[in-house]
Amino acid sequence: MKKTGTISDNSLFNRERNTPILNAARNYACSGKIPFHMPGHKLGAGLPYDFKKDLASIDLTELPGTDNLHKPEGIILEAQRLASDTFGSGYTFFLVNGSTCGIHAIISTICNRGDTLIVSRDCHKSVITGMILAGVKPVYIMPGLDVDFGITSQVRPSTVEKALAEHPRAAGVLLTRPNYYGVCCDLRQIAEIVHAHGKILAVDEAHGAHLGFAEELPDSAMASGADICVQSAHKTLPALTQGAYLHVGKKRAIDIDRLKFYLGVFQTSSPSYILMSSLDLARDIMQNEGRFLLKRLIGWIKDAKIRYRHENILCLEGHDPTRIVFNVRKLGITGFEAGEILRNKYDIQVEMADLYNVVCIAGISDSEENIDRLFRSFRELADTYSCPRTGRTSLKVPFQKTNPEIMVPYINTGLDKVSGIKGEKIALQNSAGRICLDIVAAYPPGVPVLCPGEIISEEIIKEIKTIREAGGTILGMDEDGCIRVASLDGLPGNLIGDS
Ligand SMILES: Cc1ncc(COP(=O)(O)O)c(C=O)c1O
Repeated sequence: MKKTGTISDNSLFNRERNTPILNAARNYACSGKIPFHMPGHKLGAGLPYDFKKDLASIDLTELPGTDNLHKPEGIILEAQRLASDTFGSGYTFFLVNGSTCGIHAIISTICNRGDTLIVSRDCHKSVITGMILAGVKPVYIMPGLDVDFGITSQVRPSTVEKALAEHPRAAGVLLTRPNYYGVCCDLRQIAEIVHAHGKILAVDEAHGAHLGFAEELPDSAMASGADICVQSAHKTLPALTQGAYLHVGKKRAIDIDRLKFYLGVFQTSSPSYILMSSLDLARDIMQNEGRFLLKRLIGWIKDAKIRYRHENILCLEGHDPTRIVFNVRKLGITGFEAGEILRNKYDIQVEMADLYNVVCIAGISDSEENIDRLFRSFRELADTYSCPRTGRTSLKVPFQKTNPEIMVPYINTGLDKVSGIKGEKIALQNSAGRICLDIVAAYPPGVPVLCPGEIISEEIIKEIKTIREAGGTILGMDEDGCIRVASLDGLPGNLIGDS
């Protein structure tokens, strides 16, 4: 039927629209860039045509027959049950505000105000904000360091064991696995340790919704014995941005009613049916074709690695093979520079870059041709930069070397108390010894360098400066290099605690 007189009737409003976001998004979509970044549907390549065609018309609300995310009894309950079967959980919830809202709900569910939570320091900032909201005291444990790649590596089971022994009253343990580089710790062993102490193991598996769907992939958090986890379906599956799952383990160590309450607190009361449909669809694809497609993808990556091997490019091995991490240190350029060359010369947009590495997300929506092109481009880039520029980049990743267990002094009460402190903005170079009031994090990956309530050290100032000067983006700081710290006159005497 021809529609007349509506906005969809273009002839009625035949003008160029002043829509900066829409225009820029369209321009990128038409730019011909090959996306090795999220969302995992890769500019729609991994989504069935009929789903894309229907997008606007399935944007519904709670109507007769469309159920209610906050009280699911019909189609949403059924879709969540199907997801629970597919991902091996006891119970699955759909999240429409990303893993972020799931992490907030998890922390509020497993902790009471003033509780201590053992947290790996390589956590995403949503873990920190979750602890601020819930008034939880963090006990940070440090993952290992991979000096060649300049990244944090796995959390060791012995580190978790030690933290539990030292903090017997902790409410539980919250780990990030995989990290942004696809690094996975031995979760099975850690789950045994945490459960032997009678505690809850929560996992931020935002980057691992595809785990366990191929024998070459590490097991998922649910299969490894975690009690609760989140997965950002939009990062690694063909799902729309913000679509995520929250899974509860089959043993039900979690208070489901309390969890439902907090999901109601942290999720919108107008959940998107586009997102919920997308989560439903991603589950259906993984259930039916996921194993085949992932095996095929991993085979393509393996072959391309061999075909385009270059002595000056190192790839991170031994973890999630779909997270392709190229280390360009031997080329005498930074990862930031390599990412830019890929974008400008080879029309490849990577997920992120840091001082030493370029990180690419591959998934079941990618084609063999694109995987081939990525590795071929990298080899050409390596040939160009290996000669005449030889030698490693002179930049050094400034690891925080402080003892993990007492990494930085933090506020001796729940993290929520920090928000009440009077603040002021000062230049970063003058901030040594002051208490930071913001979450300062390189983005991506969004892992905090400083959290609210932490003392700023010379070492941390150097780390932030190095990342900024190399072209990285730092959240939690002004463009002019100022940082928000506790003002000296507004600090209650009892706030700085022992670490
Ligand atoms: C490790 C980790 N956890 C959680 C999140 C938050 O996920 P979402 O964007 O789905 O809210 C991110 C986002 O990048 C992340 O990297």
